[in-house]
Amino acid sequence: MTAVPPAPAFRTAELRRRSRRPALAPAPPGTVSLAMGEPDFPTPPPVVAAAVAALRGGGTHYADQNGLRELRAALAARLPAPPGRPRTADDVLVTHGATGALTAAVLAMIGPGDRVVIPEPAYSLYADLVVLAGGTVDFVPLAPDLHWDLDALAAALPGAAMMIFSNPSNPTGVVHRGRELAALGELLRGSGTLVVSDEAYHRLVYPGHAMTSALEVESLRDRTVYVQTFSKTYAMTGWRVGYLTGPRAVVDAAAQVHRSLNGSLNTAAQHAALAALDLPDGVVAAMADGYRRRRDLAVARLAGVPGLHLVPPEGAFYGFLRYDTGVPSGQVARELAGRQVLVRAGAEYGPSGEGHVRISFAAAEDDLWTGLERVVRYFAPEST
Ligand SMILES: Cc1ncc(COP(=O)(O)O)c(C=O)c1O
Repeated sequence: MTAVPPAPAFRTAELRRRSRRPALAPAPPGTVSLAMGEPDFPTPPPVVAAAVAALRGGGTHYADQNGLRELRAALAARLPAPPGRPRTADDVLVTHGATGALTAAVLAMIGPGDRVVIPEPAYSLYADLVVLAGGTVDFVPLAPDLHWDLDALAAALPGAAMMIFSNPSNPTGVVHRGRELAALGELLRGSGTLVVSDEAYHRLVYPGHAMTSALEVESLRDRTVYVQTFSKTYAMTGWRVGYLTGPRAVVDAAAQVHRSLNGSLNTAAQHAALAALDLPDGVVAAMADGYRRRRDLAVARLAGVPGLHLVPPEGAFYGFLRYDTGVPSGQVARELAGRQVLVRAGAEYGPSGEGHVRISFAAAEDDLWTGLERVVRYFAPEST
């Protein structure tokens, strides 16, 4: 009898059908990758040393399922809190990266019949998680300047269970202004809509722009699930440490989901995260300055190239490049891969991402320069 592979469960089948996230493979030799949000800086040595010390000191067993208490307390002390209501360790859940935090929050709070508003183009994980939870994705296109279209949001938000966004934004590089966040809070006043604010790039904001956390906005903070990670700020993508905070009932529900999916997190990695919090400010600032140089290099190289348009990134390390050729972005990404530079197709990030590619400038400067040359030669051979 021939064995028949079992069909994937309904939700998995739906996820396969709807997901636009590619499975990522390492770049082949000779190919430059501008596809990944992967810092090329090493994890700072004191962080590595703290993990080694933790392992040598016996930190090789299960940790508290919500995260090491000292780590949660240290995080709580650093988060903005409402006047007179300081956050405590119990308000924080340490998670398997921001991915674990987003997954736990969405699976905990969203089910069939729930509608989730996602201003798009948006980080492609959000829609996948909503599909996995059985909810309905309601994509709301951004305004032409890549900020929120508040009129469109005003029309979409009534009755929504949740809205998810990243600030600074992956993939657009936009930093949402304090007044934009306050306006969102006003739109939501009196509603039961939760806001998930993924602030993974909060320390990567370029000169002339300012970061406002949703937790600092009075009209948002009580409905905000704040998601954060050590991945980008501290060049710790492989350590897999993130966290969330928010209304206590949401934190508790997310904790239940997270421990069901993950059990407890790697103990030594959490000690490493504690050490990262104690790094002198200059360490993060130096990396941020490196990204700023790369961002300037990308903006300068792409400026004036016929048929290419880039809103200069305000934060994070992505440029969302619009092109005029009319070729679908998936095809553009494949053709660029054939020319030995990897980028992400804009359509991955939502319907309005079509006609764009996302380039990451977290790559090393030499690679970035080589990759940009290949991108420019592809789009505008006559200009090189
Ligand atoms: C906006 C955003 N959120 C979350 C993540 C995932 O972060 P982590 O590595 O902590 O899972 C990324 C990674 O690219 C991201 O860009």
